[in-house]
Amino acid sequence: MPSSMMTVEQHILEEQRRHFPHSSGEFSWLLSGITYATKIIADKVRRAGLVDVLGSAGVENVQGETQQKLDVLANQALLTSLAGRGNVAIMASEEDAEPIVVSRDRQQGRYVVVFDPLDGSSNIDVNVSVGTIFSILRREPDPQQTRPPLDDVLQPGYRQLAAGYVVYGSSTMFVYTSGNGVAGFTLDPSVGAFVLSFERISMPEKGSLYSVNEANADSFPDEYRTYLARLRAGLDGRVYSSRYIGSLVADFHRTLLKGGIFLYPPTKANPKGKLRLMYEANPIAFLAEQAGGMATDGTQRILDITPTGLHQRTPFLVGGRAEMELLMGMLN
Ligand code: AHG
Ligand code: MN
Ligand code: MN
Repeated sequence: MPSSMMTVEQHILEEQRRHFPHSSGEFSWLLSGITYATKIIADKVRRAGLVDVLGSAGVENVQGETQQKLDVLANQALLTSLAGRGNVAIMASEEDAEPIVVSRDRQQGRYVVVFDPLDGSSNIDVNVSVGTIFSILRREPDPQQTRPPLDDVLQPGYRQLAAGYVVYGSSTMFVYTSGNGVAGFTLDPSVGAFVLSFERISMPEKGSLYSVNEANADSFPDEYRTYLARLRAGLDGRVYSSRYIGSLVADFHRTLLKGGIFLYPPTKANPKGKLRLMYEANPIAFLAEQAGGMATDGTQRILDITPTGLHQRTPFLVGGRAEMELLMGMLN
């Protein structure tokens, strides 16, 4: 099939057949539950202002942040779509304090899906790119149903079966990995399908952009400030420029395609970092490594961190090999 007609569902099926010849197609069916929900979200994002999705929903989520209407809608779209797949036992969302058990599939369900339904909420009302991030884990059989659902969720990032995001930007793109490289698909509104647009994405080893919220710079540990000054002074003849959108998905998507580095270091307000391990750092780190990049918390590989809480935060540094190796050399 010419790649221009290759949809994400077809790609996933082919990936599964190529790497797991006896696969049942269950995984592909699960991922189509995610693509379906993100098409609903994309429709609302594209018509924000015409449909009632702008502004605050007037309630606080478990993070203590005011939920935006689109946070709530995106969360509902994913919960509903995934609960109907018949193979998801547990779902865990940034917007819900505890994991959600899909009771009907508690026994048969082989998958756990963790997600940030709407990333970059502060940008919704000002028409700036936002995203959805997801991470898929295996749920080991538990016939006696003795294992607490949270134990099924809190797995280290290297155990992810797949991870990806949708960026609702100038185009809507679905980017994912199932452990065999990173592929990108663009939503073709004329047919309502995510069609293959980037066969295999690899992150440039050396870039010329860094992405950090400079307003926090005074509270970064000294080594970070020294590092950023080093990039501004130039590295191997490359003078760096700064880009910061404030939506992790959009800032990472640019880093994935153009190279460079994204940093959310420890700050006074967030001494353990702001970004959440399970549904922001882990999925993005999986994609970064699959594209040839690196992702750490400043001391260890993100994917090696043993989670202790669904909403735990971590410092998050992700980017191309050259920028990351220099930073790790300065931090350790
Ligand atoms: P979310 O909207 O899911 O809460 O995520 C927002 C995150 C992430 O998207 C972004 O990189 C970061 O918050 C920006 O934080 P600052 O505004 O503190 O820079
Ligand atoms: Mn987020
Ligand atoms: Mn969010």
